[in-house]
Amino acid sequence: MTENTDKKDLTHPLEFLEKKQILDKLKKSEERYQNLIENLDTGITRSTPGPDGRYIEVNPYMVSLLGYSKEDLFKSNIFKFHTNTGQADAIYAEIKNKGSIQDKEISLKHKNGSPIVISYTGRAVKDTNGKILYIDDILVDITLKKTSEEEIQKNEKLESIGALAGGIAHNFNNIMTSLFGNISLAKMKIPRNHAAVQHLEKSEESMQDGIKLTRQLLTFAKGGDPIKENINIAAFIKDAAMFNLSGSSIKLNFSSQKDLWQIGADRSQISQVISNIVMNARQSMPAGGQIDIRLTNSDLLKDNLLTISKSNYIKITITDKGSGIRKKNLEKIFDPYFTTRENGSGMGLSICYSIIKKHGGYLSVSSQVGTGTTLTIYLPAISTQTLKDKTLKTI
Ligand SMILES: Nc1ncnc2c1ncn2[C@@H]1O[C@H](COP(=O)(O)OP(=O)(O)OP(=O)(O)O)[C@@H](O)[C@H]1O
Ligand SMILES: [Mg+2]
Repeated sequence: MTENTDKKDLTHPLEFLEKKQILDKLKKSEERYQNLIENLDTGITRSTPGPDGRYIEVNPYMVSLLGYSKEDLFKSNIFKFHTNTGQADAIYAEIKNKGSIQDKEISLKHKNGSPIVISYTGRAVKDTNGKILYIDDILVDITLKKTSEEEIQKNEKLESIGALAGGIAHNFNNIMTSLFGNISLAKMKIPRNHAAVQHLEKSEESMQDGIKLTRQLLTFAKGGDPIKENINIAAFIKDAAMFNLSGSSIKLNFSSQKDLWQIGADRSQISQVISNIVMNARQSMPAGGQIDIRLTNSDLLKDNLLTISKSNYIKITITDKGSGIRKKNLEKIFDPYFTTRENGSGMGLSICYSIIKKHGGYLSVSSQVGTGTTLTIYLPAISTQTLKDKTLKTI
């Protein structure tokens, strides 16, 4: 028997009880903090410092936020979870210099590739010599907040441009009517074989384009509220897409969920939306290709719509395998007059956006250069029952 063990054996029972109580208290307090961290809806992590940093502690929220298992998070270099290494380098450099970072907006990448906007706070934990031992982080997911802020900004911008466009369109219409009338009068006053007739006819043709543009502007501007009907949206969209692809070598791959919910839609407006989107897809594939159109009942939770609205939507995706859209252009494509095409007016998608908004829906885009583009439309369901109209063909 060693001296130590002898001593232990001699511990007074009361002293032993006291020690046990203190240990129990410590354990309970540790459990409380552990519980707090494990149940927080915020990512809490500790990582080793430097360019080859790795997570050594992560709470369950962090696991669900990034979609990787805890083991995978521990195994991988932290930089893997950043959308770009430049960002990760900058964060580390700032923490090294200043000791901490507060509420910095950064972008991480979920396992499935989708970006997550994070409000990041990090702090260096140093030893007595000032050497960084760990970096402790707090990560708050602000993706939904950011999206709805951007949505509000986009709406406000479109609303003010809409008011302006409405005013211009109204005046423009009056000018067009007067020009049209006067050209007709001029044509009546000269013989049919007069050399000026062809110039007057050319002017009339250009004016037809002007009138078309005015009509588009008026749809985009305030007013033009949709006259909604309960239509067989699947058949309607398929027909509209086929019509816009006629004469091209593009194949339409169409599918629609069987028990698709019913929606209310303005025929002429939704036809404009499909026409604009399909024409864009067609123009992005000048050598031909395929367009996929898919209609499904939307899963609010999966589609991140729960925070925006509690209603049910049908989801329409239109995908092409065309040129794709460069990242810097993606945020501008719904702006009126934004175009990269030589003869484009840049009104197509802003009109689509405005029409879908007026239907109480959402329109979004995702695209990759060289791979293609997907436009996603959500339209609110008026009933979760299937349309039973035998006069319309089912698809
Ligand atoms: N499917 C697509 N593939 C590639 N680029 C696209 C696609 N859809 C839209 N774009 C880009 O978005 C821009 C704006 O599209 P939008 O339909 O609003 O105007 P436009 O096609 O240029 O002109 P128009 O008024 O004649 O439709 C296009 O110029 C193009 O750069
Ligand atoms: Mg277009």
